[in-house]
Amino acid sequence: MISSSQTYKADIIIGDKSPEELRLLTNILCQQGYRVRQALDGEMLSIACKTRKPDLIIVDLQLPYIKGADIGEQLRSDPITESIPLFFITSLDDSISKNKAFDYDAIDCLRKPYNVNELVSKVKLYTSYREKIKNLEGKVKQLEQQLELSELLPSKDSRLSLGILKSAIEAVHNGIVIVDATTPDYPIIYVNRGFELMTGYSAGEVIGKNCRFLQRKEIDQPGIRELRQAVADKSPCCVTLRNFRKDGSLFWNEISLSPILNNAGEVIYYIGVQTDISDRQRSQEELERSRASIKKMNQELHRLTNLDGLTGIANQRCFDETLETEWQRCSRERLPLALILLDIDFFKPFNDTYGHLRGDDCLKTVASALNRCVQRGTDLAARCGGEEFAVILPNTTADEALKVAGEIQEELKNLKITHESSRVSDRVTMSIGIATEIPQPGLSAKDLRNSADQALYLAKEQGRDRIVIYQSLINNS
Ligand SMILES: Cc1cc2nc3c(=O)[nH]c(=O)nc-3n(C[C@H](O)[C@H](O)[C@H](O)COP(=O)(O)O)c2cc1C
Repeated sequence: MISSSQTYKADIIIGDKSPEELRLLTNILCQQGYRVRQALDGEMLSIACKTRKPDLIIVDLQLPYIKGADIGEQLRSDPITESIPLFFITSLDDSISKNKAFDYDAIDCLRKPYNVNELVSKVKLYTSYREKIKNLEGKVKQLEQQLELSELLPSKDSRLSLGILKSAIEAVHNGIVIVDATTPDYPIIYVNRGFELMTGYSAGEVIGKNCRFLQRKEIDQPGIRELRQAVADKSPCCVTLRNFRKDGSLFWNEISLSPILNNAGEVIYYIGVQTDISDRQRSQEELERSRASIKKMNQELHRLTNLDGLTGIANQRCFDETLETEWQRCSRERLPLALILLDIDFFKPFNDTYGHLRGDDCLKTVASALNRCVQRGTDLAARCGGEEFAVILPNTTADEALKVAGEIQEELKNLKITHESSRVSDRVTMSIGIATEIPQPGLSAKDLRNSADQALYLAKEQGRDRIVIYQSLINNS
């Protein structure tokens, strides 16, 4: 009889030569929710087991079997039934048959007439264990499968990637070094071929050492301090160090350092990737040298094109450009622009009297005096050829320009440069013309220059060694 329910607690085969007992036990077990199959002899039992492996066999130890062997022997010697749990019942009241039952690893052996309740409760107990075991087995299987997935697959992958990595590490030109961070002083435990080629040291010579031997005596480099800090912080870093090969030659070593952590977050290894950047460094140095010389050449060019070769102050070209620029700026900002033109009085006789070298010295002294009196960043003192000088004063009124001109005159006076052939003084003097204008439409920088020229002309005309302001034509001598 088969339990009508699709789900049953366990599949049990009962083997008994007594049809009544079979029926009785079957009814009881079916009511308990078991699926029950019956066998009247050993052969039927064997066929039932082959048809479908049961969870439990309840069998009479005296169940007839072919070839005279007892049923226990038969079941345990058959590969299909050898592992099926056996529950024996026996009509023999002797300890021999009971012992025999347990020789066959029986889970129990009850003597007939057995107490049905006892048998059912034992079956119940056994099958509930069996159920639990089955569940656990299912879980174990599931876990095994998961483990297989998580371990087997990655291990397959990692075997693959490890192989590739190993070849890659050996093939790269960079040096690769691994140090043991769990041992004091971080000894090297691995270097690749790239390291050997780069440094000239073989793996055998460096394993067990700290990498600092590559620094030789240069142990106070900024990069080392940075590297030391990164190691203390367990953080990655990239530094460039001056290192030395085995043959003593210097190379620039760019080191990329990364900590390798274990699951507890502790650093167990450091991996360093080293690149010999000496060529790059040399090019960099070359580049810096070239840049420096270009800068110098540009300064020289600027000096040549904008500065007066003799006096070192701005030249005519620079003066013209600045006057134009400041004119435009003051025009935009509606500010007054002042221009002072200065001419050394009787300079040709000075040269004739003292010679050109003294003449040049005089020009240089005057230029320095101008520079001292012209102090704002926007002001400009220039030599406009021969003994003519000019001062551009943006955002300056006529009165302010007059003040600057007066200071120049005073400075020159204080220099006391002897000039015996001057007709106005025994010292070098200057005629000075000033013009000031707020740039207007229709006017240009040239107009300002002309005005200052006219004022200078007047200063000369009026006896030299004086200042004339164009605007109001005030003679300020
Ligand atoms: C993985 C790793 C690789 C290193 N590689 C180099 C290297 O190639 N050249 C070097 O001068 N220092 C290298 N160092 C730095 C030194 O080993 C050491 O950490 C550094 O000199 C600072 O420590 P110290 O003050 O005790 O010398 C490396 C360090 C680590 C952890």
